[in-house]
Amino acid sequence: MNVAVLISGTGRTLQNFIDEIAAGRLDARIELVVASKPGLRGADVARRAGLPVEVIDRRAFNSDAAFGDAVTRAVDARSVDLVLLAGFLHLWMFPDRYRGRVLNIHPALLPAFGGKGMYGRRVHEAVLKSGARESGCTVHFADHRYDGGHVILQRKVPVLPGDTPDSLAERVFEQEKIAYPEAVRRVASGAARLPPP
Ligand code: GAR
Repeated sequence: MNVAVLISGTGRTLQNFIDEIAAGRLDARIELVVASKPGLRGADVARRAGLPVEVIDRRAFNSDAAFGDAVTRAVDARSVDLVLLAGFLHLWMFPDRYRGRVLNIHPALLPAFGGKGMYGRRVHEAVLKSGARESGCTVHFADHRYDGGHVILQRKVPVLPGDTPDSLAERVFEQEKIAYPEAVRRVASGAARLPPP
């Protein structure tokens, strides 16, 4: 599998893919990392690993469509089988030919606690505020909505008394590190696929 990884943040998810590939647990090659603004820590993670990085600054575009076209051009320029959204905070309005080949991870049990503006710490704050007894993470095929699309797999964690957004985030992230590579393996092997529209 040749993959592109799209990031907007610290690149912990990208680092996990780099580690899983290096350990021989994930048979993939990262062909491209797209960073949605300059100066991201995740871009440093990529460069340290010798991966090609393209910075496509969302703020330079006045619509999701125009930004999406720029991302599409960057991905099209490489030979990429799968595109992995990894803490990517924008919509990628991908063309139809990428349908079923774009995956996202979200740090909650979708459809709960997802959607525009729901990312990172905010998700865990909302889970704690709701009084939910469990949370987790979801890997899904992306569509043109925030955190929308067919679910591939979920991993659950308990919400414990005394949890803070940070302690819950840490527990969920440990599961994300297992869930995302597993979902990629399932899509690569054909065990998971997007149902026809
Ligand atoms: C992960 O926790 C991921 O679930 C979340 O961003 C983090 C990865 O960013 N994604 C979302 O909240 C998407 N709605 P990082 O790899 O830059 O730390």
